Amino acid sequence: MLIIANWKCNPVSVSKAKELLKVKEGENNVEVIICPPYLYLPMVVEGIKNRNIKVGAQNCFWENKGAYTGEVSPLMLSNMGCDYVIVGHSERRSYLNEDSKILNKKIKKALSNNLKVIFCVGESQKERNNGETLKVIKKQIDKGLKGVKNENICIAYEPIWAIGSGSSCLVKDAEKVLDFIKEKRDVKVLYGGSINEDNALSYIESKFNGLLIGGASLNPEKFNKIIKQAKD
Ligand code: PGA
Repeated sequence: MLIIANWKCNPVSVSKAKELLKVKEGENNVEVIICPPYLYLPMVVEGIKNRNIKVGAQNCFWENKGAYTGEVSPLMLSNMGCDYVIVGHSERRSYLNEDSKILNKKIKKALSNNLKVIFCVGESQKERNNGETLKVIKKQIDKGLKGVKNENICIAYEPIWAIGSGSSCLVKDAEKVLDFIKEKRDVKVLYGGSINEDNALSYIESKFNGLLIGGASLNPEKFNKIIKQAKD
């Protein structure tokens, strides 16, 4: 079971970021992964040294180096000590206009630099209301993972309407999407969207292979409660 912290664009200082490192380690079948903003990666890599915690980035570019102002490459991330990278989070798809073509390039470059990819998919409220959930997921996977093998890929199902909303998707509904994804791809499937210390257990006990956690990962006490439930 993967328990992944996605800090998003938080917290606002290194000292506050250090506070968030008071998290339990993974053990047995539980892997704990922290995905901080780029700026805090060196501090996090140093801070978790000799602990059973892995580090991931929240994004990467599709080239390894060159004249690409403002970008951070998969090779840099890998050299920095990252094991994972999140690609295709809905916030990047919507605020940064990242489309499937861009995501596909990023995924391929990340994999070729030995990063494991956490590829996010999910439908909007409108798409859900129109009964288009599986159609949307299919398209995101077919285009985003075009020409990509299953190795080192996890797919995170994150219904956009559930992210940061305080109400997660019902496990039985999310499992329908999981079944659909697993039919297409033999990969780990994670759930993300308003997971907290109270609802995490139902997902830990479900068919999902892990959780991608935003808000609750910014509170070590809450995040540790989730890790503990996964271990027990
Ligand atoms: P949330 O975010 O846990 O705050 O809903 C999850 C995510 O977007 O990865």
